[in-house]
Amino acid sequence: MIRRKKVKTWPLPLLIVGLCFMSCRQVQQNTDCTTHALDIASYQLKQSARMLNDSMLLPRSTWTYHDEAFLVHQLGHDVVVSDDPLEVHSKKALSGQQRNCPISDWTSGFFPGSLWYAYELTGDEELKQQAVRYTNILYPIHTMPGTHDLGFMINCSYGNALRLAHNDTIATVIVETADALCNRFNPAIGCIRSWDFGTWNFPVIIDNMMNLDLLFSASKITGNNKYYNIAVTHAQTTMKHHFRPDYTSYHLVSYNEDGTVEKKETHQGRNDESAWSRGQAWAVYGYTSCYRETKDTVFLNQAIHIADMIMERVKTNDSIPYWDYDAPVEIDTPRDASAASITASALIELSTLVSGGEKYLNYAEAILKNLSSPEYLAKKGENYGFILKHSTGSLPHNSEVDTPINYADYYYLEGLQRLKMQD
Ligand code: GLY
Repeated sequence: MIRRKKVKTWPLPLLIVGLCFMSCRQVQQNTDCTTHALDIASYQLKQSARMLNDSMLLPRSTWTYHDEAFLVHQLGHDVVVSDDPLEVHSKKALSGQQRNCPISDWTSGFFPGSLWYAYELTGDEELKQQAVRYTNILYPIHTMPGTHDLGFMINCSYGNALRLAHNDTIATVIVETADALCNRFNPAIGCIRSWDFGTWNFPVIIDNMMNLDLLFSASKITGNNKYYNIAVTHAQTTMKHHFRPDYTSYHLVSYNEDGTVEKKETHQGRNDESAWSRGQAWAVYGYTSCYRETKDTVFLNQAIHIADMIMERVKTNDSIPYWDYDAPVEIDTPRDASAASITASALIELSTLVSGGEKYLNYAEAILKNLSSPEYLAKKGENYGFILKHSTGSLPHNSEVDTPINYADYYYLEGLQRLKMQD
């Protein structure tokens, strides 16, 4: 997928012939690589989709279990592991098995969304039928109270349905979901509340930036600025409080009722001050979207700063980050392919919005190329039906560590689709 190389000293005619040759060869490599990836993706998704039964479960990841010593080493501090032998036994027994999720799970939109992208990229009608089928089963949760994740769940499923098979019923679902999301907005704080569990007063996680696309969409459908204004306010408040001077993001900021900060934490990262890889990816994606929708250069600058920080901080030889930028660099330190695929998708879009965006496109292409290598891309019929290997959900919670996860697949396909739009 790397198309461009620096050539400084060739005479002009040779340069032109040479560049044509290289460009053709590299475009061909891109095409071969993408064709192979889509062949695998379509096979895996179709196999998984055929399995839907009355239990209405969707593929999410696999269960994993790592021992305490590994976790302590990765985290650099003690961990509280269960001292209930039965619980430990059942977690170990589940380890290595596929983890499916109910429609109320925060990841439920990614599988239908992947089907939509795979359909868009291949034109395969079976993928479309399955995309429609798996999107429709999410209908009962589209106004579910108690979670900010509705944006992920409905925008990835119904949002893609609206794009690829528009009808008014889908538009209504988007708007009703946006209303449910707006009910979680606190004007005194200027944010949408993330979690209803825990002891935080008003927790907001960086992931919540990913819900704003659904609000922008609802604003366009209805012509009502309410959704747009809430999205912009949330992004502004988050920009003020979530970021450190080096543009890394805390995972969680909790607010007092008057809008002052209660505390800042990194719940799924190495420690509160570390840079949790997926959090950085959600951040660059979220601010790139905000600039696309608002054309406010404050958001563009934020996206650029975060993108530059990511490119500077990820030191792995294949640009697939470890699960946390501050994790120890060792042979068994888990990667997070999901952070890489989210970043790649975001940086392709960013490259189209900024002058000199080629460096972001090159970086994203390199990530997608590496994710399409045998190290990360599944073989047909393996990897529990998922497309990518080596993602990490939440290492501090000993959950989904170094395993396939549905959102890595979703943003990988979105990245391939965005890359295709560049050609
Ligand atoms: N939104 C939850 C996560 O990224 O793990």
